Amino acid sequence: MPVTPQTLRNWKHQPQPFVMLTAWDWAIAQIVDQAGVEVILVGDSLAMVALGYANTLPLTLDQMIHHSQAVCRGVKQALVVVDLPFLTYQESIAQAIHSAGRILKESQAQGVKIEGGSPEIVETIAKLTRIGIPVMGHVGLTPQSVHQLGYKQQGKTEAEAERILKEAIAIAEAGAFALVLEHIPAPLAAQITEKLPIPTIGIGAGSACDGQVLVTADLWGLSETLPPFAKAYINGRATLTEATQAFIQDVKSRQFPPNL
Ligand code: KIV
Ligand code: NA
Repeated sequence: MPVTPQTLRNWKHQPQPFVMLTAWDWAIAQIVDQAGVEVILVGDSLAMVALGYANTLPLTLDQMIHHSQAVCRGVKQALVVVDLPFLTYQESIAQAIHSAGRILKESQAQGVKIEGGSPEIVETIAKLTRIGIPVMGHVGLTPQSVHQLGYKQQGKTEAEAERILKEAIAIAEAGAFALVLEHIPAPLAAQITEKLPIPTIGIGAGSACDGQVLVTADLWGLSETLPPFAKAYINGRATLTEATQAFIQDVKSRQFPPNL
């Protein structure tokens, strides 16, 4: 049975965490879907890992739709959620409806993710969910605010932790079906997970969350640098370099191609 936002919401009470991974094209989506992940995020981290930008800010809505269409063609089981890029939802609620609407109309994705927990963002989440667009929230370290926050851990002081908890509660009350918690102390993530009626999905937020997410380029060792909370399960860069060099060697020594 394909996963839906409703299925995911009900996994709040599952004993085992579910897994979300990012994907940015058809082949990667097929691999992670067939491997058995429950949720695929077309994360705006693709600006860095697929397009070579320094951060997520330059990504456009048209680029995101292009990648989302490719990902959706490769997915049979997982729920596909798409990040709304920087400044495609913060300007006004009308802009958010337009952008989220295009994602759902032009790809097969079933939900969008938006960053932040300000009153404006909470209002936007409430409006989107009221018109039938499932929304995943994202608080803690929000990379679209890199110039304001940097990439450092959030919620370290009591005041900051209190603010993030309040944002999380407001996002759940606004109707979000799940909430990403990025780079916050594990005890804070555990407290939020306990308080919220919707699943939390952690990245650098400890093991108590209802689900876990990683950027697939980090998991596969394709990224040039790893965030402190990520783990590469294969050294993709080294393995692919070796394969490429073996091919170069074989061509130069006329071992490849075979003479058929
Ligand atoms: O863009 C992304 O990859 C994300 C995840 C890290 C949650 O937003
Ligand atoms: Na993102």
